[in-house]
Amino acid sequence: MYTKLKDVMIEAAKRAGAELKEYFKTREFKVTQKSMNADLVTEVDKRAQDIIIKILSDKFPKIPIIAEEKKNIEADTAFYVDPLDGTLNFVHGFGMFAVSIGYWEDNIPKIGVVYNPISKELFWAIKGEGAYLNNKKIHVSDISSLRESMLITGWPYDRSYLPKVIKSVEKALNNAQEIRSFGSSALECCYVAEGTFDGYWEWGLSPWDLAAGIVILQEAGAIVTDIEGADFSLSKGDILCATPGLHKELLAIFKVGK
Ligand code: IPD
Ligand code: CA
Ligand code: CA
Repeated sequence: MYTKLKDVMIEAAKRAGAELKEYFKTREFKVTQKSMNADLVTEVDKRAQDIIIKILSDKFPKIPIIAEEKKNIEADTAFYVDPLDGTLNFVHGFGMFAVSIGYWEDNIPKIGVVYNPISKELFWAIKGEGAYLNNKKIHVSDISSLRESMLITGWPYDRSYLPKVIKSVEKALNNAQEIRSFGSSALECCYVAEGTFDGYWEWGLSPWDLAAGIVILQEAGAIVTDIEGADFSLSKGDILCATPGLHKELLAIFKVGK
């Protein structure tokens, strides 16, 4: 059952990815601003989303679909779809973006698929069966000390998080080697899962940003919580994930007052 779901999710991600790739660097698409000037949606996001919804709902008509560019209902079992994670990158012609499709059942992360049509990297995982990049099994790095770690983070559109974000960046730069930022939370999760980065944190995310990445991270051996160290929750929208040897240390430097 999960293999069939995963195969259909991959087919949907690849078909949507082909649509994104066709328009990448053309600027031949309408762009609309959402919550603020960096939060954009394009016609291509919407077309990619239609492609995904058609494929998923044809094959699995009973499973609700929660997708970024449509009105949603709440459900404990659902597909979570971000047709284009990294829209700002896409608009500027920076090829770090992905289609992200997660499947959660009774609130438990079960399947994650993240596809970058430019690099042709397909990250996927099924709960209990490991995480993969294309056909190769992936695992988090074995880095267990912040001093030897390279971290990744992102910038919430809701700028009221900025004081916390800046403080966290300062703490991380004072303790780790350095920090990078891609502008695609789905890919940031995947690059921790495959061991390039050793930890990732961000505030203010939506369920479709993380639903797929969480499964891939967990199956690759990462520890995933919120930024206070409590259980991760899709509805809360903040994440801290890292290698098992690093998670505690990273969490500790972010604790208020440290
Ligand atoms: C955004 C990206 C970005 C993160 C934002 C997300 P979008 O998704 O994942 O990295 O910092 O908070 O909303 O808008 O490109 O789908
Ligand atoms: Ca997103
Ligand atoms: Ca999006």
